[in-house]
Amino acid sequence: MTLSPLTKLAVIGAGSVGTSLAYAAAIRGSANTVAIYDVNREKVEAEVLDLSHGTQFFQAAHIRGGADIECVRDADVVVITAGARQKPGQTRIDLAGTNIDILSDLLPKLLQQAPNAIYMLVTNPCDILTTAALQISGLPRSRVLSSGTVLDSSRLRWLVGRKVGISPRSVHSMMIGEHGDTEFALWSSATIGQAPLLQWCDNDGNKVFTPEILDELEHEVTDAAYRIIKGKGATNYAIGVAGARIVEALFGDHHAVLPVSTMLDGYRGISGVALSVPSVVGRKGVERTIEFPFDEREDALFHKSAEALLAVQRSLGI
Ligand code: 2OP
Repeated sequence: MTLSPLTKLAVIGAGSVGTSLAYAAAIRGSANTVAIYDVNREKVEAEVLDLSHGTQFFQAAHIRGGADIECVRDADVVVITAGARQKPGQTRIDLAGTNIDILSDLLPKLLQQAPNAIYMLVTNPCDILTTAALQISGLPRSRVLSSGTVLDSSRLRWLVGRKVGISPRSVHSMMIGEHGDTEFALWSSATIGQAPLLQWCDNDGNKVFTPEILDELEHEVTDAAYRIIKGKGATNYAIGVAGARIVEALFGDHHAVLPVSTMLDGYRGISGVALSVPSVVGRKGVERTIEFPFDEREDALFHKSAEALLAVQRSLGI
């Protein structure tokens, strides 16, 4: 991939998600400069030093960062990972109040340093924080997005691929809606290679993806973060690399179709809430969303997910 020498990515938060994202971006060369900002000076300086020692082996040219917010200056893309994270037993939505407060303090300061950047929310609940960030910043909706269900879709593609012995790269299906408990799989339009997923048969000619299997796979995705958090306290590697992939789509002007979360304006009749839907991601941010037929179940679940988040927004007064 050829990058402009001026691409600068700023990662806000030197916790496990922020540092994994920075690491993935440095290895993949998602940006030319990767800067990490955190208020915890000792921690962020140690992370930046540790990462800098790998510069010889990275595709990115420079690792920067520290506890001085000026390290974010003139970033082209700012990825926000700072905030409280889920504890075992908590949902992402439980973090909304605390993390909106953190964002309200942080975002105006970031905007002073990087007024022209595209802002990507990774902190949870990322859909709600996208809405809050739009309100706080006044930026156009194309420039504020969230990693949304890009991670969940990658979980889904891996699970489906594993079931049939096919690379996740050849599985085309997305989780959409909330990055959280009301998300769901778009099965009706899913394909493996060019073949419709719902028609996929085993060697005996039996359909593999029965309704029970579909439910199981979907549940495994929605439950994935809970399982990982129970085992190791946080999820970090897959979100790190998923975030780096979105950054590449932005810097590379890929016009990649990714299920990032974006403020909807009339999508399937839904407005005023940020949700993940198939979206075209390029240098200007979210350039458009893609509408296509959903089946009855998908349509109902999509509206249910939107209603759930709209109710959270109302309860938070945003
Ligand atoms: C995840 O899905 C916790 O949102 C984070 O891994």
